Amino acid sequence: MSDNGLFEKLASAAVGLDVNYDLANGQRTKRVYLDSTASSLRLQVVEDTLTKFQPYYSNTHSVLHFGAKLSTSEYKWTHGMVLDFLNANPENHTAFFVGSGTTAGINRVARALREKRPDREVVITSIMEHHSNDLPHRKHFPQVVHVPAEMAKKSIGRIHMDRLKEALEEHGDNVNYVAITGVSNVTGIINPIHEIAELAHAHGALVVVDAAQMAAHLPIQMSGNDNPAHDLDVVIFSGHKIYAPGSPGVVVTRKDLFEGVEPQDVGGGMVDDVYLNRYMIMDAFPDREEAGTPNIPGAIGLAASLYALNRVGMEKVAEEEDAIIRYTIGQLSQIPDVIIYGESDCDACERAGAVSFNVRGVDHAMTAAVLNDYFNIAVRNECFCAHPYVREMITEVLAEESDDLSDEEIERLADLHRGMVRASFGIYNTKADVDLLAEALRDLVEKREHYEGLYERLDSGDYAHKTFKFDHARLFSVKGAVDGWLGDG
Ligand SMILES: Cc1ncc(COP(=O)(O)O)c(C=O)c1O
Repeated sequence: MSDNGLFEKLASAAVGLDVNYDLANGQRTKRVYLDSTASSLRLQVVEDTLTKFQPYYSNTHSVLHFGAKLSTSEYKWTHGMVLDFLNANPENHTAFFVGSGTTAGINRVARALREKRPDREVVITSIMEHHSNDLPHRKHFPQVVHVPAEMAKKSIGRIHMDRLKEALEEHGDNVNYVAITGVSNVTGIINPIHEIAELAHAHGALVVVDAAQMAAHLPIQMSGNDNPAHDLDVVIFSGHKIYAPGSPGVVVTRKDLFEGVEPQDVGGGMVDDVYLNRYMIMDAFPDREEAGTPNIPGAIGLAASLYALNRVGMEKVAEEEDAIIRYTIGQLSQIPDVIIYGESDCDACERAGAVSFNVRGVDHAMTAAVLNDYFNIAVRNECFCAHPYVREMITEVLAEESDDLSDEEIERLADLHRGMVRASFGIYNTKADVDLLAEALRDLVEKREHYEGLYERLDSGDYAHKTFKFDHARLFSVKGAVDGWLGDG
């Protein structure tokens, strides 16, 4: 099958892609899912692979029965698949699964690198980060430096490379690692991770890439780059953001960085021997980092997704998605009163996965509620666990638009109106989805007062429709599903 054929086949089938909901205007329509940055839908190929696997499910710590042999062998394969997906050399890299996403992985890495390189007490990160790529470093290190974002035209919202260089020069040999997001979960702006790696390495610092928003959208070359200084030391991502909800977080790291460091969790499956007065942790990766029974179906589902994406080719995925992002920016920027955050010239400042915006004068929570209730478009709003960056991006727009306000007034306004609406994409989204979003936003802009009259603002800051109520239990509840299965008997 051609690249296009394979891409179409993979992209057109996902669980929940054709789900319908009843709307506030009495219509029943197909939902448009624009919230993949939070969690992507599960690809049908993942679902079907898991269905085939489930009858054989066994604990990987059992050894000799058929199911155990199958599960153990396939679980082992999933680790190799992750390394392959990130182009990480299996000789000196390992992949291990941890928790339910990137957060668990970054916490694990911060703790390990603090212990491994105790003389280097500073972490450099950026203002663009999700809190999960900020707070773990604050917890484990005495000093965390936040490099600002660029505010100059044509690069608004990207990491400020000159300031990164200055921070590295200032803290020199004391820098343990630079922790940087590959793609912003707010603006979708792509960071130059290999250039950042080169700068970090020149100071003996490591580079830790938060690939939560990168892995599903762009190819990643962890090792074997033409310039070895461009290689990435640690990459972390979430299975639930790469078409396999229910799968774990992933850490891919140079093995030597975790060698000799006491694993965070101890227990079954990671020891050579245990006596009452001592225990011997095995040297082998990834086992030593995966205490207890792993999330085996989660890992299988994730590996199915990665293998399928590799067969399509991540370059092809990136190319298709780039077209959607450019189309979205093109469509939204034609709507009066829609503000797009971050540099919107995609040639100057590349993006992947997400576009965040506001409708001028309309609360972000109102926009998200109307998009859902009247247009069946699922988006995320608020600050996306990236408060400093969202505040910065909103301040930038306010400053640009209001010459007559003082800096304090702008900051106060930015805090008051903090929040955006985010449309985010997966391989299953099409230009038709973007057209529906644009149409909905045009309607909201035109009938702003009409919509505002239909809602009341709650203390939480959310908006509740005055008459339309969504009763989720009519569609699904655990109890309802079980009762339905058991019947009356
Ligand atoms: C850039 C980034 N880093 C980290 C995380 C945290 O990932 P998880 O919720 O899977 O732990 C997210 C989640 O949205 C993210 O977007």
